[in-house]
Amino acid sequence: MKKTIKPVKAFNAVITIPGDKSISHRAVMFGSLAVGDTVIRGFLNGDDCLSTVGCFKNMGIDIEMDKEKVVVHGKGLNGLTPPVSVLDVGNSGTTLRLMSGILSAQKFTSCVTGDSSIQKRPMDRVAKPLSLMGADIKSTAPDKILAPVTITGKPLKGIDYTLPVASAQVKSAILLAGLYAEGETVVIEPEATRNHTEIMLNFMGADIKKDGNRIICRPVKELYAKEITVPGDISSAAYFMVAAATSENACITIKNVGINPTRTGIITALEAMGADITISDEKLLNGEPVGDITVKSSKLKATVIEGDLIPKLIDEIPVLAVAAAMADGTTVIKDAQELKVKESNRIKTTADELSKFGVDITETDDGLIINGPTFMKGGAVINTHNDHRIAMSAAIAALLADSETVIDGSECVDISFPGFYTLLEEL
Ligand code: S3P
Repeated sequence: MKKTIKPVKAFNAVITIPGDKSISHRAVMFGSLAVGDTVIRGFLNGDDCLSTVGCFKNMGIDIEMDKEKVVVHGKGLNGLTPPVSVLDVGNSGTTLRLMSGILSAQKFTSCVTGDSSIQKRPMDRVAKPLSLMGADIKSTAPDKILAPVTITGKPLKGIDYTLPVASAQVKSAILLAGLYAEGETVVIEPEATRNHTEIMLNFMGADIKKDGNRIICRPVKELYAKEITVPGDISSAAYFMVAAATSENACITIKNVGINPTRTGIITALEAMGADITISDEKLLNGEPVGDITVKSSKLKATVIEGDLIPKLIDEIPVLAVAAAMADGTTVIKDAQELKVKESNRIKTTADELSKFGVDITETDDGLIINGPTFMKGGAVINTHNDHRIAMSAAIAALLADSETVIDGSECVDISFPGFYTLLEEL
């Protein structure tokens, strides 16, 4: 589907955005494994999270959904039943990776697959530690593990494992397997990654402790259902934050956004570029920090984004590249090789699509170099590569252009942000 985006120079708005994708996935998964009814408010009704719902329904979990809430009728740690068909994760890496940790410990065999993008995304990073714990994970790919995968549950034992890449999905898969394992499971992170799994599992009665960069999980008998309110997704807020920071005359307040410090790299990076950002009305929602984020137009300058900041803004790099395109000077993004194995190769797709606006952007092996400021040319036809974050980043660049831009394959935003274009139009 094609979508035309018109330039916008000034806006003043107070908005709310859909629920956090990472937290929504976890609420359904962990709610399925808990005893009792987990009531989820603010659930993200995006395609990825609906894939998680579909998979757990397929394993015998009754999940009711209406406009207000999702109710997951959990059956306890050992209540899943063999899936009636292949588990389809669609485009969702989080579903595939986290669910693998759970499936490794079940008393049945399951087959998991997804769309053409998911079938290319690395699974060795999950299969290796899970196999060390005793799991049996097979794939038909010749020399690596890729979806479709067949997972036969086994009795697991705890391991002490250092993650070769900073990945919350891999960490979470190991911790979930650790819930079922004999003894202690320890995951050592090279850099801190999002900790929603640890927060929510502990909220439901798990025994997960952090000691420096070591995360230690001890098995528990059961998890217990809770009421969960999902905060707005800072990864979705990021598009409107960059839109406000880069526009000529704008002010936006985004209400109730998750500001867990493992996710706020976008704020750190934009502030380093000179953005005017304030956070108000801070509170805690089921262990997750939440606040209202206000961003006003400002003159941006270039920065360097690297090291342990990268996992805290990994999904926001395409839209940060738009901010960098409008900033004065050379912005360097490095240590971000992981971008190559996202829904698309985001180093390449960000460079390819932003260069259509006239942005001076160069791909490197581990990131991007962007020379700004840019006079953004309109008239581009953007290829989203079926990657929701490329589609939305290009839409924000299109607001800054001198004439209309066409986004081809625009519908992929439904993966994480249904209603994105309507909200954009309201500006
Ligand atoms: C996620 C972790 C990140 C992120 C993804 C969601 C999660 O992936 O990019 O969108 O919910 O755990 P990695 O673990 O591969 O870094």
